[in-house]
Amino acid sequence: MSKEWHTASAPGKFVILGEHSVVYGKPAVVLATDRRITCSVRRSKRNTLNGEPIEFSKQPHFRYLTRNLRHAVDFVTRSDIPAGAGLGSSAALSAAVALALSTMAGNDPAERELVEEAYNAELAAQGSGSPMDASACVHGNGIGVNIPGCEDRKLWKFSRGGRSWCVSDIDVPDMTFVIGNTGIRAPTGPQVDKVRRFAKRSNFATEMIEEIGNITLSGYDALRKNDVETLGRMMLMDHKLLSILGVSCKELNKLVNASMPYSYGAKLTGSGGGGCMVALTDEPEKVASVIENRGGTAYIVSAGAQGARVEDGESQSPLFDVSSYE
Ligand code: MEV
Repeated sequence: MSKEWHTASAPGKFVILGEHSVVYGKPAVVLATDRRITCSVRRSKRNTLNGEPIEFSKQPHFRYLTRNLRHAVDFVTRSDIPAGAGLGSSAALSAAVALALSTMAGNDPAERELVEEAYNAELAAQGSGSPMDASACVHGNGIGVNIPGCEDRKLWKFSRGGRSWCVSDIDVPDMTFVIGNTGIRAPTGPQVDKVRRFAKRSNFATEMIEEIGNITLSGYDALRKNDVETLGRMMLMDHKLLSILGVSCKELNKLVNASMPYSYGAKLTGSGGGGCMVALTDEPEKVASVIENRGGTAYIVSAGAQGARVEDGESQSPLFDVSSYE
């Protein structure tokens, strides 16, 4: 491969507990997955993405991340993370592109800088949200957000719009998770907006958000003690509350229900409205098979992947549609 290419990759993530409520500064627990996005970049005469001219109006992540460039670039991306499925494709793309560009510029950014860049790229694309996904995709392993008592493993803190998020490294549990993809693509921004509108007009929604925060703390405690029964119960309860908040859908409920006979717990993961669910189980093959039988696509996940990193080789042709990451 030509030396002029600079390549970086970042993992996807799944949320064990706390999506949506984390936007309001509540706690969350997230693990990085072994599915990654890789991005190669080199100087060029015109801006291209996978061989085609980049339409920046349709690529807000790329538009934001190239805002300070004084020359054109070729990007080549390759993704094992389905887009708009709640698995962190937007944050992983942002982290991989930001690190590849930084490497091309001769820099070696600190994780915190990379998170800030990836978080801002996501905000440019989805409008609002927390730094949870960007933190998970840059740091890898597992992260906790706003978990009391985690100060000794604190990674960074972000504040925005009166909310703050203290992000810490957590131990990756020795547990088995299966992800089920409904195949319904659901961008994050509209789901976050939906919850915000609900919370604005209803105390009931605000109480649900508060309750998800409490469940997340109980679930994190169970995770630390390797108590799969309690963690599973908290996950299912979280799914019910997220459904009441209006971010589940019948396809997600179908996969969650089908997984439950073989799982400690299951829930939607990410922003919902479609996308993926995750089940905590000792019987991953059985869960994968019921998910597939109900029309989903199952991935038995290896959790705790390495975070954003510089790679040696140029990325190859994309596996998934990379035209838009939400
Ligand atoms: C999406 O993966 C997670 C949300 O909580 C949004 C966010 O935190 O920005 C729904």
